[in-house]
Amino acid sequence: MLRRRLSSLFRRANVAFFSQSSPGSGSLDVAENLNSRIVIPNKQRKRVKPGVISRELALPKNTKRPMYARETVRGTPEQPLEPQVHDEHDRKSMRTSCRLAAQVLEYAGTLVKPGVTTDYIDRQAHKLIMNSGAYPSPLRYARFPKSICTSVNDVICHGIPDSRPLEDGDIINIDVTVYRSGFHGDTSKTFLCGNVDDELKQLVDVTRECLTMAISICGPGVDYRLIGETINEIADRYNYGIVRDFLGHGIGRYFHSAPAIIPYRNRIPGKMQVGETFTIEPILTTGGTEYQIWNDGWTAVTKDGSYAAQFEHTVLILETGVEILTLPL
Ligand code: MF3
Ligand code: CO
Ligand code: CO
Repeated sequence: MLRRRLSSLFRRANVAFFSQSSPGSGSLDVAENLNSRIVIPNKQRKRVKPGVISRELALPKNTKRPMYARETVRGTPEQPLEPQVHDEHDRKSMRTSCRLAAQVLEYAGTLVKPGVTTDYIDRQAHKLIMNSGAYPSPLRYARFPKSICTSVNDVICHGIPDSRPLEDGDIINIDVTVYRSGFHGDTSKTFLCGNVDDELKQLVDVTRECLTMAISICGPGVDYRLIGETINEIADRYNYGIVRDFLGHGIGRYFHSAPAIIPYRNRIPGKMQVGETFTIEPILTTGGTEYQIWNDGWTAVTKDGSYAAQFEHTVLILETGVEILTLPL
């Protein structure tokens, strides 16, 4: 999802909202929100600790890579300030990429079991993507070292697959993005590992519900901000926090672009248009919503140890409504 990089683009574009929010500290309304919310205590849960990251996996030479993953390219991947709008032909390509991402995600989910390492899940997903003639979009994206993101328990997002074996009672978000025939498809789900507390299962269910309901209000001419409104209303009913610093995004030929799809109440203007594709990817927590980044430069964890759940789909706006592209079918 989009982090500071896009917000700095918006800053350049003079969108005041983004220039006010600074990662980690949160904006004013966050503080108010936190004070008024009953924070659910985390029952002395252990925090996830970094494991060992294995070496980079190989890909066939002829796999078509996105620009940022070519040998000679360095620096920040391009994040266009325009939405990505597709004609009929490109919509078909998006459908194909997105379906593959969904199939890989479904497969990865079947591997979630106590004792299995996130590195193993990454390796298996990598193989499936490779054998499908696609490229795993996260690999080498701004130096991300693996093919999928695996975010366990108090990890908010962008967890790097490593040597940590999954434990009974963990929740794990697996985020799969593939690049195929020039188009990215992006989707994630939070899976239950073994026997998960009812309290945590509810977090996962409510987060899934937020995504479902947010998609249901999408269509041509609809304000993007209604996505945030819809999610916020549901999260509030359960006193869950919504992480504010990671957002959905336009997607297509580029992994990330405008519009920023904000998963909480906001007043940012902009309307959905026919042919555009973007992701919706709310992250809910059992408590606080501030984050810290591990020394690996990627893994975002909650400051207070709250657990986090996330679901993500890539959608296409049609004349008649909205199509969820990341279904495995
Ligand atoms: N898939 C994530 C998203 O939803 C982005 C991951 S970027 C990575 O936008 F480099 F961490 F893989
Ligand atoms: Co995304
Ligand atoms: Co994603």
